[in-house]
Amino acid sequence: MIVPDMSDHVQIERSGAVVTVRMSRPEKKNALTADMYTGMTEALRAATRDDDVRAIMITGAGGAFTSGNDLRDFAAAPPADLESPVFRFLRELSSCPKPIVAGVTGLAIGIGTTMLLHCDLVVADPSTRFSLPFINLGLVPEAASSLLLPRLVGHVRASELLLLGEMFDAAAAERYGIINRCSAAGEADTEAMAWAQALAAKAPNALRLSKALLKSESAGIDRRMQDEARDFMAQLAGAEFREAMSAFMAKRAPSF
Ligand code: COA
Repeated sequence: MIVPDMSDHVQIERSGAVVTVRMSRPEKKNALTADMYTGMTEALRAATRDDDVRAIMITGAGGAFTSGNDLRDFAAAPPADLESPVFRFLRELSSCPKPIVAGVTGLAIGIGTTMLLHCDLVVADPSTRFSLPFINLGLVPEAASSLLLPRLVGHVRASELLLLGEMFDAAAAERYGIINRCSAAGEADTEAMAWAQALAAKAPNALRLSKALLKSESAGIDRRMQDEARDFMAQLAGAEFREAMSAFMAKRAPSF
């Protein structure tokens, strides 16, 4: 069963006890709009409430995971407060009590990489390119990546990824511990679904309790997401993002 959300850009699919949330806007490499964040938030919330759902899979359609926040949408209707769709999505994702498996193919840019830090298992196609390009856009990290990434990879590596904002490949992502492993070529979704089905067959209470124990530091994560959101919104309204945006539209390098 496939149920499109209002925007048609998020597909919700049910397979046994697994719900798949698929970002589906291939002509824009699945760049995420406010409507898509809302669709994904509602999908996660519904999956959390439904006792028959035991695991969630997140993936993208058309050969991309996601190219991150839709920059035009962001410029036209920037998030104004913590109730904005992007921040509500991040809170829902990071507090979701059910296991989340990500199947990543092609591109995982910006929030496409930072959302993986909140998933429980991540498998990526070997050709996937990752990046955290916030600095190149005159922005700051989000999704508590400024807290979670240094914890995961250490300060100097996190600085490399967040302050240089360059692309890195799936082998590097695996080495850094951002993904569990590379799939066989073209098989990320199949392998992610196999993991999601394996989780769905585990004892549900033990799984919920185990995930809660693994994620016991949520207060620090919430606080960091708020701090980041404050700086992110201020930068979005400022001259540095304006320059980055006009450079993106004109397909030129920004001059800061
Ligand atoms: N926001 C808005 N539009 C985006 C987008 C984004 N994040 N990512 C891609 N698109 C659009 C492109 O503008 C292009 O639109 P067009 O066909 O109307 O020109 C279309 O999607 C296809 O992208 P394209 O750039 O042609 O694909 P590519 O494979 O050559 O490059 C990227 C892919 C992701 C490397 C490149 O599009 C890019 O750098 N996008 C911006 C990524 C980004 O900064 N994300 C925000 C993080 S906070």
